[in-house]
Amino acid sequence: GKVRVLHGPNLNLLGTRQPEIYGRETLADVDNALREKALLAGWEVECLQSNHEGELIDAIHAARLDGSVAIIINPAAYTHTSVAILDALNAFEGQVYEVHISNVHKRESFRHHSYVSLRADGVIAGLGTQGYQAALDAVIKAAVKG
Ligand code: DQA
Repeated sequence: GKVRVLHGPNLNLLGTRQPEIYGRETLADVDNALREKALLAGWEVECLQSNHEGELIDAIHAARLDGSVAIIINPAAYTHTSVAILDALNAFEGQVYEVHISNVHKRESFRHHSYVSLRADGVIAGLGTQGYQAALDAVIKAAVKG
């Protein structure tokens, strides 16, 4: 199966951006670890980071057409603002997992609401970059169960 991994705005700075909150691992480290895990399970992972809402939406549309089984998405700040990303995910029929590196519920109140959670099959927050690995585990396990 194929899984799309989507990272929203500012996550290109992972590793150097507020490391006390988001850690020192880079986005390339995260994506490489996911590709490795997927490969072992016979899966394919396609990763995209974008600072542009429309580009993330285009990637969600592409996932509808290429047989992607699941989307793992950290919408970053768009989590809290984007009805458009929610609408795009609602048009995708596979599994959707929402990942936040930090525990958004422990932070400012504007981070407590997520539009994407209205669609997500699972939400992971506060596990650091391990959250992406946990989401991929969930995708693979759900596919085995059928
Ligand atoms: C984030 C949390 C968001 O509130 C924030 O805007 C981000 C990253 C996280 O991974 O913890 O950019 O999604």
